[in-house]
Amino acid sequence: MPYLRNTWYVAAWAHDLAEAPLGLTLLEEPVVLLRDGDGAAHALAGRCPHRCAPLAKGRIVEGALECPYHGLRFSFDGRCVHNPHPGGEVPDAAVRAYPLAERHGLLWIWMGDPVRADEALIPDFGWLADPKWEHVNGSALVPGNYQLYVDNILDLSHASFVHPALRSNAWTRGEREFGRRGEVVWARYRHLDDYLSEGIDMVLGSAGRRMDNVVTVDWHAPSVLFLDFRAGEPGTPEEALTSLPSLHAFTPQDRTSTHYFWAVGRDFRLGDADFSAGARAAFLAAFELEDAPIIAAQQKLMGEGDFWDMGLIHLAGDAGGIGARRTLQRLIAAEETEAR
Ligand code: FES
Ligand SMILES: [Fe+2]
Repeated sequence: MPYLRNTWYVAAWAHDLAEAPLGLTLLEEPVVLLRDGDGAAHALAGRCPHRCAPLAKGRIVEGALECPYHGLRFSFDGRCVHNPHPGGEVPDAAVRAYPLAERHGLLWIWMGDPVRADEALIPDFGWLADPKWEHVNGSALVPGNYQLYVDNILDLSHASFVHPALRSNAWTRGEREFGRRGEVVWARYRHLDDYLSEGIDMVLGSAGRRMDNVVTVDWHAPSVLFLDFRAGEPGTPEEALTSLPSLHAFTPQDRTSTHYFWAVGRDFRLGDADFSAGARAAFLAAFELEDAPIIAAQQKLMGEGDFWDMGLIHLAGDAGGIGARRTLQRLIAAEETEAR
């Protein structure tokens, strides 16, 4: 299936792009991220139009990106602006410049028609930049197709099997609901007056106490998810439960590998660095050491096969993942039709 192009993908955490250019592959295209003298971030195609050298290995010289091979320089909007060779004309050439937006501590890239890049379409993750919240975050290049990661977050029933520390009756016996709001596919888990998992007890300090637990997940096409884990004393109104909001953004490197950007927030124990370090290590272990290996193995067994042609069986918890796949397929088909 082609990629959805007229949409915002997360390219990097803003703090991971310093002065040196950062090279990565997104949707099978080499891309270089870089900052200009004012600190504004830009994204250019990562392949030099002269002899295909990787521009990400270049450096910024006099306000332009210098190719590491023969020294052509490209401005931040992609135009070739300097040819260092004697008598050489500046070639009438450019590398593609992708719209890039820095928002909520993340760099969002638009891989489609630049004219249609509207920053108002970036999903709202305002809590990532709100001082009321503190968050731990990370990123990793993980094996497996990005849609397998979307399935994983929308179907939290896996938690009881994949994550020993997150095993909970909420995933197996609790109520589950799935639905759509516009193009957003959502999942909701609700389980009242029962023990939470050991891992969440550690974060919330709720060991040995029964709690109400409500979890919602919103999927934004193609692969950006907001997960809101809430818990509190039985009978607490839902909006007053303690919230652990999280971001899970998956950007395809290619068909079988994915850039994963995650963050988990809290509005308690602010400024507690030891607590943050412990929470970060626990989430890191869950996402990168427990989910990623099973998804890698899943990918291997799926091979290049088409998801819909594999004769797979579907369970109740798959409604979110299936809804997201169908929505994405429809959006991609519409984009393909428009392009013709
Ligand atoms: S490959 Fe870039 S200048 Fe030659
Ligand atoms: Fe998981």
